[in-house]
Amino acid sequence: MKNNSYMGRLELAPQALDRSFNREPIGFDHNLSTLDLFGLDSLRTLAEKYQGHDSDYMVASSASAPDQKFRSVKSANLNPSQAIDRLKTESVRILLKRPQDYDSRFQELLDGLTEQVVSLSGGLKTDRIMRLESSIFLTSAKTLTPFHFDPSAVFFFQIAGEKIYHLYPPSALTEPEMEQFYFRGMVDIAQVELNRRDPKLEHVFKLSAGKGLHQPQNAPHWVETNGDISISYSFFFETLAARKISRTRGFNHYLRKIGAQPSPPGAHPRLDAFKADAMDVWIPCRKTLSAVKSAALGK
Ligand SMILES: [Fe+2]
Repeated sequence: MKNNSYMGRLELAPQALDRSFNREPIGFDHNLSTLDLFGLDSLRTLAEKYQGHDSDYMVASSASAPDQKFRSVKSANLNPSQAIDRLKTESVRILLKRPQDYDSRFQELLDGLTEQVVSLSGGLKTDRIMRLESSIFLTSAKTLTPFHFDPSAVFFFQIAGEKIYHLYPPSALTEPEMEQFYFRGMVDIAQVELNRRDPKLEHVFKLSAGKGLHQPQNAPHWVETNGDISISYSFFFETLAARKISRTRGFNHYLRKIGAQPSPPGAHPRLDAFKADAMDVWIPCRKTLSAVKSAALGK
């Protein structure tokens, strides 16, 4: 009999995803909490495989406030196996990156879920998925992840425990806030100030086992864990179209630094493409960038 323990399913109406993808947060149901793959013993076995692979995991203490700086959150000096043993007794957050590299069943899970998401979205069928990643997040009860945004479209699945997810659409950020991160070629988290957001834009999702959400690229958020130990899984990617927008923003940051008022992505598609291409050559050739800058400014 076929072993279906890694066959993940998410339930999301096609129209709903097309309307909201990379624009508005949206919730969905899923079956990942029923898979053996996410049992605590199975995750303990997985965590042991991370021993010695320091760049593939993170173990940190909880933040004390949602607007705390990430770097000021103390990193716990534990490996993932030790940290799993302390989930009940201490306040720890464990991130296991790229589980598909350590257990092929996670690769099948990732492939299956990605296929479903693409099949649900007309827009994604004509775009291209770049930098597809996944991760597992285990936290003690009562932990807090500070306010930040990520440069990827995220599909987040709550497996066990309860998380309260405070999520804003990308429109809650200003263009300059996004530009500064994309100028630096950001591929990791980016922090912004929580108190500058419009509270009316906040979506609050109470996630328990079987509940999930889509977090658009550049959607700022902070997360609380309640009750018991929390286990979550997410997969995330950047599309080719989104990457071009990010590069346009990176170039706009440069224009802003020299005193220009650049148009946001979408206002002038041909100029956007020009700026995105310029960012592709930014590092190897400053001279080309300066020529493109002159063209973009009409000088
Ligand atoms: Fe995040």
